[in-house]
Amino acid sequence: MKRQNENMQYGYALITGATGGLGKAFVRVLAQRGYDLLLTGRSEEKLQTLQTELKKEFPNVKTYAYAADLSNETQRSAMQQKIQDENKNVALLVNVAGADVQKGLTAYTQEKIAFQCRINFEAAVSMCRFAIENKAEKLQIINISSVSGIYPMPYFAIYSATKGALTSFSVSLREEMKGKNVAVTAILPGAMPTREDVKEQIKGQGLWGKLAAKSPQDVAIASLKAVEKNKRKEIVGFWNKEMRVFTCWIPTSWRLHFIAKRWSKISKDAF
Ligand SMILES: NC(=O)c1ccc[n+]([C@@H]2O[C@H](COP(=O)([O-])OP(=O)(O)OC[C@H]3O[C@@H](n4cnc5c(N)ncnc54)[C@H](OP(=O)(O)O)[C@@H]3O)[C@@H](O)[C@H]2O)c1
Repeated sequence: MKRQNENMQYGYALITGATGGLGKAFVRVLAQRGYDLLLTGRSEEKLQTLQTELKKEFPNVKTYAYAADLSNETQRSAMQQKIQDENKNVALLVNVAGADVQKGLTAYTQEKIAFQCRINFEAAVSMCRFAIENKAEKLQIINISSVSGIYPMPYFAIYSATKGALTSFSVSLREEMKGKNVAVTAILPGAMPTREDVKEQIKGQGLWGKLAAKSPQDVAIASLKAVEKNKRKEIVGFWNKEMRVFTCWIPTSWRLHFIAKRWSKISKDAF
């Protein structure tokens, strides 16, 4: 099989959140393109199952699994140290891991606030720093943000703030990395039918859900295309792009009122 990265110093694709809906889509698209894979997730068991599936589907692709809670600094450092000790250089980092806790601030514990900020932002930043230090000849970084990060979102406030921060960080980092063989792209997907609760939520959105939702595979392919072009950021899907333009014309107070009304009816914890 022709390796996508055969012209570079040998490098791996490192995917965080590899065991989730979008993570698995990235894993399969990258395996098809001939990348060897460094897979991370919290659950050792889920990682083993994924490796077994990949072995059958892509016998020529090498996979290595690292279970770690990336919101925990000690576990994250230990995982990074292990990859470094194994001399595995990174040609592509895909920061997928994230938690979409959704509730008003007063319903959060202090612990849950820290968890969501750390996994959605701190962990991704730390993985960027790690990948840059351990990069192959060239490095591409894809940070999975969200369209939810474009506007402040009452009752989804920490999620939207952390995703907004991740987008902003990615755009700045891209500038810092100019001329250093490192491309950085923030991806802003709309809804993707990954977990059952997200599928239900999309169904509940009726026609808009049907129009705007993109499959995890489409998002993975669009993300790889965007980083290949070294784009700053990419909103995935025609309707999500249109929505961004349309909502610019709506007064902020109306927008906040509409979002608060809608999201105050939904409450969900981390999975
Ligand atoms: N689904 C959507 O509609 C949507 C829309 C826009 C953006 N996004 C973003 O896309 C990304 C993936 O979403 P998804 O729907 O695929 O979610 P998902 O199916 O729930 O997968 C989440 C992944 O993140 C990992 N993860 C969660 N907390 C972690 C932690 N503390 N340490 C290490 N790994 C952790 C999980 O690993 P384990 O399973 O091993 O614990 C899992 O692999 C997220 O960043 C999300 O915010 C999703």
